Amino acid sequence: MKWPLGWLLPLDVVVDPLDASHAHCMAELHAGTFSRPWTDGEFHDLLSKPAVFGYVARELRWGKARILGFVLARAAAGEAEILTIAVAPDWQGHGLGRKLMHAVLSKAHGDRVESIFLEVDETNTPAISLYRRLGFFEVGGRPDYYRDNAGRLSAALVMRRDLR
Ligand SMILES: CC(C)(COP(=O)(O)OP(=O)(O)OC[C@H]1O[C@@H](n2cnc3c(N)ncnc32)[C@H](O)[C@@H]1OP(=O)(O)O)[C@@H](O)C(=O)NCCC(=O)NCCS
Repeated sequence: MKWPLGWLLPLDVVVDPLDASHAHCMAELHAGTFSRPWTDGEFHDLLSKPAVFGYVARELRWGKARILGFVLARAAAGEAEILTIAVAPDWQGHGLGRKLMHAVLSKAHGDRVESIFLEVDETNTPAISLYRRLGFFEVGGRPDYYRDNAGRLSAALVMRRDLR
């Protein structure tokens, strides 16, 4: 089912700050959404760094929690970058990506971050649309930066959103 207003989530979906205890579930979800998945250990190491923060969306049902999506970011010296964002395939298109990005933008704004950057594959239309709708714009590119499983190369777009 798709909700008519993407930013309104069902009551049993909550968005909370990430911590290292989420590393295993993040790695599982990442493996289901990216061709080059990051490991538990990589997520654990990142989340142990004070500059790294993020948010997780969980569905709470029958006393159990399932991770539906997460976003990971890093902030330093007045700038931040989105390291990765993933939403479970069966939950994509329901407003979760937007909700998670809003959580990061809101924290970055509160922390007086001036600009937030990200890199995205030029062929990733859903992600580029999400970022553009949130006010990100293209500021550069890295040719032949990604290689898919068939060996095709594509560029990374570098995008920026100013917060002040
Ligand atoms: C990119 C991703 C995080 C978006 O999350 P999502 O929860 O599906 O996105 P939302 O439902 O919040 O959609 C927000 C906006 O994104 C864009 N969007 C989302 N899915 C889209 C699609 N399939 N095609 C085009 N635009 C899309 C739209 O602009 C949408 O706004 P709208 O509904 O008002 O038109 C998700 O598709 C995903 O996890 N993809 C796999 C991992 C990935 O590519 N991560 C990004 C790496 S840079």
